[in-house]
Amino acid sequence: MSLELQLSGKTAIVTGGSAGIGLAIAKALYTEGVNVVIVARNPERLEKAVADIQSLPTLGAKVISVSADLTQGESIERVVSTTLGQFGQIDILINNAGSARAGSFLDLGDDAFLDAWNLKLLGYIRLVRAVVPHFKSRNDGRIVNIIGGAGRTPRPSFLPGGTTNAALLNFTRGISKELAQNNIRINAISPGLTATERAESLAKQNAQARGVSVEEIKTESLQAISLGKIVKPEEIAALALFLVSDLAASITGAEILVDGGQTPGV
Ligand SMILES: NC(=O)c1ccc[n+]([C@@H]2O[C@H](COP(=O)([O-])OP(=O)(O)OC[C@H]3O[C@@H](n4cnc5c(N)ncnc54)[C@H](OP(=O)(O)O)[C@@H]3O)[C@@H](O)[C@H]2O)c1
Repeated sequence: MSLELQLSGKTAIVTGGSAGIGLAIAKALYTEGVNVVIVARNPERLEKAVADIQSLPTLGAKVISVSADLTQGESIERVVSTTLGQFGQIDILINNAGSARAGSFLDLGDDAFLDAWNLKLLGYIRLVRAVVPHFKSRNDGRIVNIIGGAGRTPRPSFLPGGTTNAALLNFTRGISKELAQNNIRINAISPGLTATERAESLAKQNAQARGVSVEEIKTESLQAISLGKIVKPEEIAALALFLVSDLAASITGAEILVDGGQTPGV
């Protein structure tokens, strides 16, 4: 059996698509012939990402960018209307933009929690709310929420991110039952430590919170991964492709861990 994804001609929104995991997913979709709209704040980085994606082979797909701050409600409507204006349809939503801070609990004020909840928890929820009416009208839609292991395995130095992720797991499973009535599937991928810029900055923040060196944090993190290696963003992208394809037609409300066996519980 060969794995035919049959995604060519579809259109996807990828938030946080200018770097890291989002960029890897945008590249993978584009290569499969999916029109891609990448969303992030920094216009220069978006421009560079678009050029990077366009340098790849594709089956006739296009890529555009929308510069938007997803903590702002108005941005959500702009992302959706730009996508519909450019491509006339939306088939796939990849919710990925997130940037929770690490730090010692007593050093983190309300702002650290509110920033994390506003961008990632509410940002994901708002985008789902914005695309679902369109998905319903077509009786089809595929959503992947990039969440993260801290939702199930909380750490004292990453509580804004952990509480965000736990709430998103609840949201993903909860809304999946309603969306299923309209053939809309929503699933979560929870990456473990993944080689992106964010992983670097989190290592620095964790080191500062615990008063140890960045190298110690990195060694400790690697030791906690059963397979002994950090995840590549392309591995997350491969799973995202599978989940948005019809090969996963019976998978909804699920969370799949891509963490090298790091998660300790069941
Ligand atoms: N890397 C890991 O080890 C890891 C582990 C578990 C879970 N995750 C999750 O995976 C997702 C992606 O992480 P990553 O490591 O790929 O992050 P990254 O390398 O820092 O990339 C983050 C992306 O999100 C965009 N972004 C940040 N704030 C934004 C905002 N307010 N509005 C719009 N876009 C925004 C960034 O662009 P701009 O800054 O230009 O806006 C960038 O494109 C996150 O949800 C993260 O929590 C990552």
